[in-house]
Amino acid sequence: MIPVCEPLLDGNELEYVKDAITSTWISSSGKYVSELEKKFPEYIGVNHATLTTSGTTALHLALRAIGLGEGDEVIIPAFTMIACAFSVCYCGAIPVFVDSDRETWNMNPDLIEEKITSKTKAIMVVHIYGHPCDMDPIYEIAKKHNLLIIEDAAEAMGSEYKGKKCGSLGDISCFSFFANKMITCGEGGIVVTSNKNFYDKCRYFKNLCFPLDKPRVFLHDDIGFNYRMTNVHAAIALAQLEKVDAYINLRREHAKLYNERLKDIGGITLPSEKDWALNSYWMYSILIEDKFNLSRDELMQVLKEKGIGTRPFFIGMHRQKSLLDFGCDSSGDYPVTDEIARKGLYLPSGSGLKVEQIDYICDTIRTL
Ligand SMILES: Cc1ncc(COP(=O)(O)O)c(C=O)c1O
Repeated sequence: MIPVCEPLLDGNELEYVKDAITSTWISSSGKYVSELEKKFPEYIGVNHATLTTSGTTALHLALRAIGLGEGDEVIIPAFTMIACAFSVCYCGAIPVFVDSDRETWNMNPDLIEEKITSKTKAIMVVHIYGHPCDMDPIYEIAKKHNLLIIEDAAEAMGSEYKGKKCGSLGDISCFSFFANKMITCGEGGIVVTSNKNFYDKCRYFKNLCFPLDKPRVFLHDDIGFNYRMTNVHAAIALAQLEKVDAYINLRREHAKLYNERLKDIGGITLPSEKDWALNSYWMYSILIEDKFNLSRDELMQVLKEKGIGTRPFFIGMHRQKSLLDFGCDSSGDYPVTDEIARKGLYLPSGSGLKVEQIDYICDTIRTL
């Protein structure tokens, strides 16, 4: 089976993990935590970073740090991964959905303003499958309505908007280090920001609200979380960060090969890359149009039988029972989200994919 996305762990991972264990610094302090919290923001081009246990907890922490609470609303894409919505719900706030842009599959900036109310506190942008959002119109809206921008860059390590790295585009930004991400440590995440106040709040809330700069007495003024990453996980993630540029190049090279081989097969829409964008192609994603010989689901089944792993696209937030039960408004139409959710799939996309495997996948699709 060609897996849909296998991690590539071909750097200093073992050496660093061994060193962390030998040193006995296996909890949430240690040189790999410090080193990663220094090097990661340098790479992204922001001032501060704090590690967390997942991309989901990074989002929760970021939203807690900006003071999101009961009665507030956050604009999020209708087409995204569920953690974006859940992190808003964890704060007692309500996620409000915006339909997608037909080409990039990201939140459509033209549809944001009509969703803003007096309760809106922030816009959460999500760079879906590695293509950056068109930020300029979003900046304008945020400025006009005095809203913060939360950036979910979990799928966009290495992607760029007008030459700036994703992760440096929001007031506060989050990444995931889950096994299928551009760099991984199994489970983990990070919040990055150039806002010192937000950074301090993140460090405070992620560590059970132990005071930041006072002796560690057991008095807590607020309710906090334990979202601390271990030094062992940080050791893996640091080794991965050392190789990130190579991984981004590999994914872009693989996308080029896929594009060349699939472009003349009728009924397949290829992923886009706008001229202002650098798409990391975190997941090589396509739409199976109605004129293709098979439906998306039939194609996935055939590919599975031929040993090729795929995944369907996300399903819209307006179709999630959990969110509707929570009180989210699902009225209105989300035609683009529904359409791409029905037609989309991703093909094997791991950095370790071989050219022969891409050939086999594309040849298989061509014969159907
Ligand atoms: C856009 C997006 N946000 C958040 C997450 C959550 O990250 P994690 O799985 O590390 O909690 C993911 C994926 O896993 C994601 O794709």
